[in-house]
Amino acid sequence: MKIIAGNWKMNGTCASLESVVHDLSSVETNNRIILCVPYTMLGVKSDKIAIGAQDVSAHTHGAYTGEVSASMVADMGAKYTIIGHSECRQYHGDTNDTVRAKAEQALANGLIPIICVGETMDEKQAGKTMEIIESGVRESIPSDVNSDIIVAYEPRWAIGAGLTPTSDEIAAAHTLIANTLTDMGLSGTPVLYGASVKGSNAAEIMSIPNVDGVLVGGASLKSDDFIPIITSVK
Ligand code: 13P
Repeated sequence: MKIIAGNWKMNGTCASLESVVHDLSSVETNNRIILCVPYTMLGVKSDKIAIGAQDVSAHTHGAYTGEVSASMVADMGAKYTIIGHSECRQYHGDTNDTVRAKAEQALANGLIPIICVGETMDEKQAGKTMEIIESGVRESIPSDVNSDIIVAYEPRWAIGAGLTPTSDEIAAAHTLIANTLTDMGLSGTPVLYGASVKGSNAAEIMSIPNVDGVLVGGASLKSDDFIPIITSVK
């Protein structure tokens, strides 16, 4: 069983989500399917597909115009939320400290956070990939986790670029994350790979040790692209 999560980013409508949910509901799979969608679509219901958000506020409530709290996301019936996505780190200035505060909010409200870590191209070229990944895991995850979390390794330079690291690079990153999680008392935490996953590379990526599933951007928007990823593994 793998976890196949889609991240719709700022795309779609309630109607397009309903259509994809309808198409996916007839797919035979043992994999856990999650779609993380814009807040405006969190009301779309599905028996087979879990719906999640893409971010939550670091605050509980109050004068934070434009922000949406974890309790509001839970109130919509969502079960998951991405936290610390590369685009939130890049465009909204999220740091590991912000990500940890948001993850605390998610956990306090019964959501399963999908906490993202990964290196930029500059960090990769400076030979800092492993350092960034390990500090990302150690600093972004709250200290007193006692319910489910998911970690996603997303090499930031590869997102939406049609680029993927080599299998050896993915294996090294995921082994480091798994070992770090074990050291933090969180062994067994699923670790997803994300960045330029598509039907043609999904099975190979999910056969790499310590890759428990994928977090898919562009290829999760259309059933014709997403279903081959879901059915590429048992
Ligand atoms: P792409 O699959 O479009 O590269 O996006 C990956 C991603 O950011 C998933 O969160």
